[in-house]
Amino acid sequence: MSSTTSLYYKNASLKGTITVPGDKSISHRSVMFGSIAKGKTTVSGFLLGEDCLSTIDCFRKLGVEIHVEGTNVEIISPGMDNWEEPKEVLYTGNSGTTTRLMLGILSGTTLHTVMTGDASIGKRPMRRVADPLRLMGAKIAGRDNGQYTPLAVQGTQLRAIDYTMPVASAQVKSAILLAGLRAAGTTVVREKEISRDHTERMLKQFGAHIEVADGVVAFKGGQQLQATHVNVPGDISSAAFFLVAGAIVPGSEVVMKNVGVNPTRAGIIEVLEKMGAELSVKMEDNHASEPTATLTIRTSDLKATTVEGEIIPRLIDEIPIIALLATQAKGTTIIRNAEELKVKETDRITAVVTELQKLGANIEATDDGMIIHGPTKLHGAKLQAYGDHRIGMMSAIAALISSSPIDLDDTECIAVSYPTFFEHIEGLLNNA
Ligand code: S3P
Repeated sequence: MSSTTSLYYKNASLKGTITVPGDKSISHRSVMFGSIAKGKTTVSGFLLGEDCLSTIDCFRKLGVEIHVEGTNVEIISPGMDNWEEPKEVLYTGNSGTTTRLMLGILSGTTLHTVMTGDASIGKRPMRRVADPLRLMGAKIAGRDNGQYTPLAVQGTQLRAIDYTMPVASAQVKSAILLAGLRAAGTTVVREKEISRDHTERMLKQFGAHIEVADGVVAFKGGQQLQATHVNVPGDISSAAFFLVAGAIVPGSEVVMKNVGVNPTRAGIIEVLEKMGAELSVKMEDNHASEPTATLTIRTSDLKATTVEGEIIPRLIDEIPIIALLATQAKGTTIIRNAEELKVKETDRITAVVTELQKLGANIEATDDGMIIHGPTKLHGAKLQAYGDHRIGMMSAIAALISSSPIDLDDTECIAVSYPTFFEHIEGLLNNA
């Protein structure tokens, strides 16, 4: 049961250094790839968020041995060919990445599996993955012809496809590529707008040969992955909350080390720079397959901007916190081409606009985004998280600048991606 938490930080300022938890997208993939490959894969910096624990749970049910010690994970797999047919339903919790990528992986096995998740997962569209997988020969059944969980997969021999993506989605692209591992022929995925490329990078890291050029990914089926070590960088989508907090809370300076700044994820940095934020990005030299940086943010005078077009997939998860940022910027910020927000953990256009309006923000929803007039002083209110971790964190960051308490209905959901979120807020407040 979720309970209401009263959040109020009078005259707050944030000072100090934090290490944000491991990247959610990369943590999921490390377990998936480590389970596909035969032998022992080790992972460091793993995110112990509920979503990634759901992925671990699913692979355990397929007979993969997985040990978690702190943020280190050891995956000992008999290899994808030797997975067991699970006796139980695979439960993917709140995790779209687990559900969609697993659909691709399971389609090419010889196993019968059933997947289901929580109430939010039960409303999220799965045909965007099931349809291209069916073109590859996948046998998938589910409510509304495979649109909604529970989903049943009867693994079968797949054939490669040449697929042009109708939406910018790394989950769809990754599901097709992972199915392509087992498909006869070369799978090709074409993207008009480039989505996050962690799957492509990790396939290379696990020894696969994959060609990537100008929005076209080509991947020959039948390749074996080689177990390896994965070092997960800090999640820029989690860092985003403290980048915004540092910029809008008076008298702040926040430093974050080892943050993943893969260009397909780092749109928030460009937006902050365009808005005039005092942000420094110092690249780190760690020779990993994902670039990392130390980010330093200071309280800033912000001006409005327009966020649209190709940058949208590179900051899609950051739009709730960018909306809060825009309430403190001078002028009118426009966010457009972001209709994908409607099919996230909740409808994030409605949720962001409804909740920020309750705080006194001048914000309106559009069909594909929102318009925000700033700056406005925010006050307290009773807010809902809609069971969505990123809406919950947006509201908690708003409480750092609100003139009276924010009563948030559900702070537990934040553990999906950032279990140490409130500890980090408290730590930064105590240093100030
Ligand atoms: C993710 C891709 C994005 C993102 C999600 C994680 C991934 O979703 O919003 O949080 O790990 O591939 P879409 O593929 O639906 O854009």
